[in-house]
Amino acid sequence: MAFDVNEIRTEFPILNRQVHNNPLVYLDNAATTQKPQVVIDAIVDYYTNYNSNVHRGAHQLADEATRKFEAARDSVANFINASSRCEVIWSAGTTESINIVANGIAKLLKAGDEVLVTEMEHHANLVTWQQACLASGATLVVAPISDKGELDLEAYYALLNTHTRLAAIPHASNALGSVNPIQAMTARIKSISSDALVMIDGAQGIAHCDVDVQAIGCDFYAFSSHKFYGPTGIGVLWGKEQLLADWPVWQTGGEMIAEVSYQSAKWNTLPYRLEAGTPNIADVIGFGAAVEWFQQLDKQAVLAHELSVLNCATQMAESFDGLEIIGSAQHKVPVLSFVMQQGHPADIGFILDRQGVAIRTGHHCAEPLMNRLNIPGTARASFAIYNTVNEVERLFEALEKAKKMLA
Ligand code: ALA
Repeated sequence: MAFDVNEIRTEFPILNRQVHNNPLVYLDNAATTQKPQVVIDAIVDYYTNYNSNVHRGAHQLADEATRKFEAARDSVANFINASSRCEVIWSAGTTESINIVANGIAKLLKAGDEVLVTEMEHHANLVTWQQACLASGATLVVAPISDKGELDLEAYYALLNTHTRLAAIPHASNALGSVNPIQAMTARIKSISSDALVMIDGAQGIAHCDVDVQAIGCDFYAFSSHKFYGPTGIGVLWGKEQLLADWPVWQTGGEMIAEVSYQSAKWNTLPYRLEAGTPNIADVIGFGAAVEWFQQLDKQAVLAHELSVLNCATQMAESFDGLEIIGSAQHKVPVLSFVMQQGHPADIGFILDRQGVAIRTGHHCAEPLMNRLNIPGTARASFAIYNTVNEVERLFEALEKAKKMLA
């Protein structure tokens, strides 16, 4: 199916709104994407027509809710090419997914083990492992990046050894956009340490990269719905069935139980053993709608469109006096981070907002990365399926104005 950005835009009602008397230009997609009408409708439909709890009900509404809820799991499993639907665990989002992994492997980590992360981590994929190391006595090893914001692969591979127990890698950096070659890295990690587990933080990868978990060869892939056109508060932990099947449970309560006495309990099978309590049903169904919606598009055409918007923005940034791009990796998701001589990122963000242009400013939950780059933070424009070259022009017009005001 041919990709038509103007047609896609009509599916996102929020794009019609005005902000400070200007048409909205929404360039904060790495923080959260907007939602198409089909996703909004799916959530409203659930609450309007079949709101009910899942799995346990003996009535029609519960049956309808359960079928839609489990169909969303099938959609996600299919989208990421999971070998089994029971490998798809619902979480609150990427951060919780990473925490479930940390809980699951906590007992495997011991003094002498190494956990390898990178300098470009989001806090969620850094602090979780930092704390797991502090608790277990394992050593956190941080692989360096180049000044361009690319992972130094030679240095990364030199850090691998038979003590490497876990490698946590971002598919793409939220602050810089850099995409990591996770498939090649996973193969290399496993060839050096057969015991090493590979965990991918896919928060920024899921919407902008090809994700085939079997081809990647990793053990865990975590992502959020809300950065992929779905609602907030729902995410996925995908993990290999043989690993998740005998993990310590994440939380105890309903749903994850098979049998209980006053003295003991037996756990349910996957995926339910890692899903305690009433799940976030409406948002699972909303996310299922987002995945189904995205899957009928031509993904390669979507990615090509996003990259053409990024390339246009990069070219305009390169010729914008006083602006420095932060992060110029060869392979990037559509993220343009920058600093300007004339002003602090927070001031730039404020002035842009007054012109209807929404970007994000600050350290982007990657404070150590900002320290590594010797900057307090960046201004970040991040693009998605519905952004246009015209919006990039609006961004740079707004930046011209900011530059003048801050000079
Ligand atoms: N982690 C999200 C971002 O990069 C919130 O903006």
